[in-house]
Amino acid sequence: MKVLITGSGGREHAIAWKAAQSSKVEKIYCAPGNAGIGEIAECVNIGVMDFDGLTAFAKEKGIDLTIIGPDDPLAAGAADAFEAAGLRVFGPRKNAAILEGSKAFSKDLMKKYNIPTAAYETFDSPEAALKYLETADMPIVLKADGLALGKGVLICRTREEAEEGVKTLMLDKQFGSAGDRIVVEEFMTGREVSVLSFVDGKTIKIMTSAQDHKRAGDGDTGLNTGGMGTFSPSPFYTKEVDEYCRKNIYQPTVDAMRAEGREFKGIIFFGLMLTEKGPKVLEFNARFGDPETQVVLPRMKNDIVEVFEACIDGTLDQIQLDFEDNAAVCVVLASKGYPQHYEKGYPISGFEAFQDRDGYYVFHAGSKLDENGQIVTAGGRVLGVTAVGKDLKEARKNAYKAAEWIHFENKYMRNDIGKAIDEA
Ligand code: AMP
Ligand code: GLY
Repeated sequence: MKVLITGSGGREHAIAWKAAQSSKVEKIYCAPGNAGIGEIAECVNIGVMDFDGLTAFAKEKGIDLTIIGPDDPLAAGAADAFEAAGLRVFGPRKNAAILEGSKAFSKDLMKKYNIPTAAYETFDSPEAALKYLETADMPIVLKADGLALGKGVLICRTREEAEEGVKTLMLDKQFGSAGDRIVVEEFMTGREVSVLSFVDGKTIKIMTSAQDHKRAGDGDTGLNTGGMGTFSPSPFYTKEVDEYCRKNIYQPTVDAMRAEGREFKGIIFFGLMLTEKGPKVLEFNARFGDPETQVVLPRMKNDIVEVFEACIDGTLDQIQLDFEDNAAVCVVLASKGYPQHYEKGYPISGFEAFQDRDGYYVFHAGSKLDENGQIVTAGGRVLGVTAVGKDLKEARKNAYKAAEWIHFENKYMRNDIGKAIDEA
């Protein structure tokens, strides 16, 4: 089979790496890809939102299966465009990707189908939102309705902060039209867990759990980022939690989407908070998580292309997902200054240390080949170094050891990825 993957991050590198192990796959293309993906796939310079360019390319090359990596193209109808061109595609259609694309939609869905989540109100006007805040309990959470690169969520400790937040989202339009409508949500406390799943419209199969570290600094300080590291599994995701979520969250979400005429085929990523009153949904994503994928896929035993095909064909009930009984930790190597200003273009060395070493992986996120064929830094999050181990402690030790094999100027990482697990 010829496979095309769209996207250019560590997530797409992990998907490409996993797909490359499939006995069914003879060739992988990635649009646009990055320097690391280029070592296992042929990268083509077509943007993820260029649906005409992508479908024309897929037809020309006789691509058998396309996997859409990021959220923006899914929300804009990438899967629909491929289907309309008569091409096989893995990823939800636009009418189902709204599960991530609109927070108001997902909150209304959960309310209608009794899926546990924080209490909320939706506002289309800043005046109404401000009026509501006059009597609301603090802290409170404001969320831009639309996609905002994962940054449209404001946790407000005081009424002043909340009022300022309404201004930022709805008047200053910091996230553009994503803030035309906002969700104002009850503040919850508890452990966060990410659970990825495959869905074929009716059946849902849960992958192993993971946890992200979103803040830039050690001890969860500093600014929010796209994710500075992950570990899998989460020791807080117990058998009881899993049973509760299967009964009250996972299948009910898939059934709700079907009942709404929005059959979901693809990945649902459940962002959960384990509160005192039980697990609740923080958010849904309609795609693999980044950097969750970099710890989940290295532990997966299945041929991922077979699972993708079962989702498309509606035969996921015949697949048993299997994961290694081990653990994985991913440490993101970023450019110093990320998520704000940082410099790029620095040569990266040390990749050879990963060759022929089982259980150590380096997934590229912001890297590129310069004119001289040298791999250089090209983004805020540069690489994700993943290592497995028999348990989380060993995986963590291995990941930090491997993080030292890589060298580039202004290299920055958190030193406490997975540290919370010591408390478990
Ligand atoms: P989201 O993009 O909805 O996952 O929100 C981003 C982050 O904001 C989450 O990972 C949580 O850490 C935090 N968050 C979102 N909603 C809430 C909430 N209702 N209560 C507390 N924290 C929240
Ligand atoms: N790691 C969080 C996300 O992919 O949205």
